[in-house]
Amino acid sequence: MSDKFVKIFEVGPRDGLQNEEEIIPTDEKIELIDALSDLGFKNIEATAFVSPKWVPQMADSSDVMAGINRNPNVRYSALTPNLQGFEKALDAKVDEVAVFASASETFSQKNINCSIAESIERFVPLMERARHHNIPVRGYVSCVVGCPYEGEIEPQAVADVANALMELGCYEVSLGDTIGVGTPQTINQMLKAVQVDIDPSKLAGHYHDTKGVALDNVKASLDMGLRVFDSAIGGLGGCPYAPGAKGNVSTLALAQMLEASGWSTGLDLDGLVKVETIMAKLARQNHA
Ligand code: HMG
Ligand code: MG
Repeated sequence: MSDKFVKIFEVGPRDGLQNEEEIIPTDEKIELIDALSDLGFKNIEATAFVSPKWVPQMADSSDVMAGINRNPNVRYSALTPNLQGFEKALDAKVDEVAVFASASETFSQKNINCSIAESIERFVPLMERARHHNIPVRGYVSCVVGCPYEGEIEPQAVADVANALMELGCYEVSLGDTIGVGTPQTINQMLKAVQVDIDPSKLAGHYHDTKGVALDNVKASLDMGLRVFDSAIGGLGGCPYAPGAKGNVSTLALAQMLEASGWSTGLDLDGLVKVETIMAKLARQNHA
């Protein structure tokens, strides 16, 4: 693979849709994932096996997984906060799962109803089951720069949680600026702390674009050696438990910026423009 390759990890069907107020019909979610599947992505985060009481938008996760036409070149993944979610994801034949922790205690309580330490404990049996079934597990750390409840987050707090996820056996840790308050300077400081113990090849940037500087944060992360970035088609997204969180950085904008700067993404940019239209339609109907 070219050393100028940057992988875009598409999270739109999960992060993009979980924050939509109106329930999006299952067949429209399937249409979106199928359309994304032919654009050159290696990873698509398709859904989340979370409590339907907490995130009703993701209640149809098994039906979504059963309905999509899988491209063998794509790894379809899903969020799993606990063993219950993992077993459902396994039944739905996901290729990969993701556990999610937070660098902020308050956000951890609000989002997954437990402390950071309890969340790591909760992931232990999940990791054992995943190992048994050869399912790769990705780890997320949320609030890597700021928290909607606690404000500024210390870089060392992020490093501690990222280290714990790596020790559990995650193959990669995605660093989430959940509410999009990062700047190239604060992202750089955070990455410096995390990279004391973790090689940049095992890290991904997951930057919400609340202030319009997510692409600058990607550039700062590229300078620090990161080569994997999460994004959502149409720039939708946010977390129901992170008030003020705006969408993820847009996949199209990210791919265009990278390609224009000499990086290769392997993505079909014209195809991305077309799928942006599908996503915009979903969002427009929802907000009409
Ligand atoms: P809890 O209420 O403490 O869980 O929630 P519980 O074990 O007491 O179970 C309560 C009920 O939920 C029970 O049902 C369980 O069966 C059910 P009842 O007996 O009352 O009928 N339940 C489940 N159902 C389906 N799937 C499951 C599951 N687990 C329990 N997996 C829990 C704890 C973690 C489940 C809950 O807080 C939850 O689901 N939270 C998810 C919140 C979420 O999805 N947030 C958005 C994703 S994170 C994010 O967006 C950030 C990220 O993008 C990175 C970034 O931007 O920073 C990743
Ligand atoms: Mg997110």
